[in-house]
Amino acid sequence: MKRIGMLTSGGDCQALNAAMRGVVKTLLFSGEDIEIYGFQDGYKGLIYCNFQMLTGHDFSGILTKGGTILGTSRTPYKLIDEPTPEGLNKIEEMKRNYAKLKLDCLVILGGNGTHKTANRLSEEGLNVITLPKTIDNDLWGTDMTFGFQSAVDIATNAIDCIHTTASSHGRVFIVEVMGHKTGWLTLNAGMASGADIILLPEIPYDIKKVIEKIEERDKNGSRFTIIAVAEGAISKQDAKLSKKEYKKKLEKRKVSVSYEIADEIFARTGREVRVTVPGHMQRGGSPCPYDRVFASRLGAEAGKLILEGKFGFMVGYKNREIVQVKLEDVAGKLKNVDPDASIIKEAKLLGISFGD
Ligand code: F6P
Repeated sequence: MKRIGMLTSGGDCQALNAAMRGVVKTLLFSGEDIEIYGFQDGYKGLIYCNFQMLTGHDFSGILTKGGTILGTSRTPYKLIDEPTPEGLNKIEEMKRNYAKLKLDCLVILGGNGTHKTANRLSEEGLNVITLPKTIDNDLWGTDMTFGFQSAVDIATNAIDCIHTTASSHGRVFIVEVMGHKTGWLTLNAGMASGADIILLPEIPYDIKKVIEKIEERDKNGSRFTIIAVAEGAISKQDAKLSKKEYKKKLEKRKVSVSYEIADEIFARTGREVRVTVPGHMQRGGSPCPYDRVFASRLGAEAGKLILEGKFGFMVGYKNREIVQVKLEDVAGKLKNVDPDASIIKEAKLLGISFGD
């Protein structure tokens, strides 16, 4: 008999259910007797011992279902050592509940913040296996996270729709794509939808260069320009600020970066600019076929690790292979877009401007 705790933490994404189904199917198919403790709303469920007993039936028919059947919430790692409003020590409560329920392991699905806590729990002696989720694809140690390809599809679709209306009206259109810290989603959706300018957190932009590209397109007879802007895009000027100064600026800013860029383009050129923000749509709906397969493969490997009694790993993807990556190697590291990566060079060869 294996007692398995499961939780999904942080922002949701597509294929969380597919991944959990993969774990459970693998365990059941092996003939292992299992009890599944589904903790509700992420680490909160483990802290407050709020769980549901789940069976194989609960994981049936969820391969294509978006969101997470367990619910999720954010438990920021920087606050993990601060007591709960009731005065509970979060880490100690999680350890206590793990022991009280006599769990054999925890399967934790999450992104960057989630992995810091997962690693901490592993260091505290809990048996932990994690699966890499996030539409941002910014988790270190894996070439891909599930949710990413589904979000690329949605963001691409949004920009495709904008393309037709932009060409009719001859306007500048900005589409703001999710990703505060990294630009994987914007880069991929931007390239997939033929955006003319792509602005990423990793490549600070100069508004003059952005306008140069718009004017170059005007001269070449293109009636419109599409700009894909990551939520975390930053100007060269702002990139010079200290972390503290920039944070202060962001606190004061009432609108997102796209509106700031739109205002600047209007002020400098008089061009009509429209902003579209698909927002949380990008995390919603059914996972794309790639993510269904990918998350199922990761889930299967996690199930295998549990059967083998191997813990302290994230199941990831490297060079087209499913791999096991030590949690301590993943925690606290961000996988950024490298401004010198070949994809950026190729995009530039295609005439895409990064505003640099
Ligand atoms: O989960 C990742 C993400 O979707 C980011 O792309 C985005 O910046 C952020 O979460 C939004 O967070 P929230 O759902 O808390 O508004």
